[in-house]
Order: sequence, then C-alpha cells, then structure tokens
Amino acid sequence: MKPNWIAPSILSANFAKLGEEVDKVLEAGADVVHFDVMDNHFVPNLTIGPLVCEALRKHGVTAPIDVHLMVEPVDRIVPDFAKAGASIITFHPEGSVHIDRTLQLIHDCGCKAGLVFNPGTPLHHLDYVMDKLDMILLMSVNPGFGGQSFIPSALDKLRQVRQRIDASGFDIRLEIDGGVKVDNIREIKAAGADTFVAGSAIFNQPDYKKVIDEMRAELAKAV
Ligand code: DX5
Ligand code: ZN
Repeated sequence: MKPNWIAPSILSANFAKLGEEVDKVLEAGADVVHFDVMDNHFVPNLTIGPLVCEALRKHGVTAPIDVHLMVEPVDRIVPDFAKAGASIITFHPEGSVHIDRTLQLIHDCGCKAGLVFNPGTPLHHLDYVMDKLDMILLMSVNPGFGGQSFIPSALDKLRQVRQRIDASGFDIRLEIDGGVKVDNIREIKAAGADTFVAGSAIFNQPDYKKVIDEMRAELAKAV
C-alpha cells in the first residue's frame, strides 16, 4: 500500500499571499500542492494558470505540484504547465478528444499523468489506458467550486477503481477530490483512496497543522 498523501487545494487559500500560504501548508505537513485550473468553459469558474505555477516554483516551492486541469481543450496548455514546473497533470476525459494522445503528451513533457472522473462520468474511459496512468482522480463533488459536500456514491466508485488498480498491477495513485474533511477521511481511505485533496477543510481553519495532524490520525485508524 502506498503512503497517504494529503494534497491541500490552494483554491481555498488566500490568493493575495499565495506563496506564504503554500509554504505554511507544506510546513504543516502537506505532501503535495493541489492546483485547480478552471477555464470558465469546462467548469463555471476561472482560476489560475501556468504563470502562477511558475511563480510558486520561483518562490521556492519544491514539493510536487498536482495540476488538476478543468479545461477544454487540454493539449494546448499541457506543455506550458510542464515548463511552469508541474509534477503531475490530470485532466477530464470530456476535455480531450484523444485521451491516449493527451496522456502520452503529458509523459513526453516529463510529467506524471492522470485521468479525472466527475461524479457522473463512467469508468469505461480507463479500459485501454491503465498502462499510461500514474494517477486516477475521482471527483466527489461536481467540479468548479470549493466548499461543496462530499457525494456519498464516490465511495463505491473508489472501491471499484481500487479493485481495477490492484488487478492491473500498475503503480497508480488513487486520489479523491471534493468535500474531504477530518470526519469522513477515514471511510474514504477505507474505500481505497491514497491521495486526499482538501481545500476548505484546511484553509478555512486557522491552524493548518492541527487539521492535517487530525486527518493523519483518522487515516491511521482506517482498515
Ligand atoms: C473542485 C476542485 C477541488 C476543490 C476542493 O472543483 O477540484 O480541488 O478545491 O475543495 P473542497 O475540499 O473545499 O471541497
Ligand atoms: Zn481539484
């Protein structure tokens, strides 16, 4: 089993002092920085792009940056994010006409690659690309905004994907995104996730370390 990764979503951070916020959350024990890219087209919100990713690298952030692309089309922006210092790039199958090609493109640019599934998106997109995936990200909210409630059917979907990953034998992380909190992270872990995105649960609290420590304590109890 892989070590658990806590991935704070900077969508809920204070953008007016983003560098400091990222330093603080990493010092508090976060493993990766979850970077939500929205285009006001694929999702009804507009956030941050490669310039901000590059700025975080220039600021001195060395932790992995997990770029979650909620954009369409995907391919044009992939090399820009790779150059800007992205470590992992994930995208939604609905955002790319040729998902195999996009996964290859991400790898050719030197990044790890993953597919993201909305709550209503079927898993059949995995059928022929398991060998090209470093990460599978299941959305437990409909993408576009932080602070939404966890959709319970994501737990069953996690169990299904966990089985598929284990049966495949490939080295693939299973990430969950949306509504993850201290009080549900344990059952999310038990359903098979190993990478936990949390935005509002962390950034809306004054003490990031306290929340992350509490999350880790809950994770340690999961069976
Ligand atoms: C939603 C984003 C999430 C979001 C999670 O579209 O992909 O990463 O920031 O925020 P919380 O943890 O507040 O649900
Ligand atoms: Zn996200």
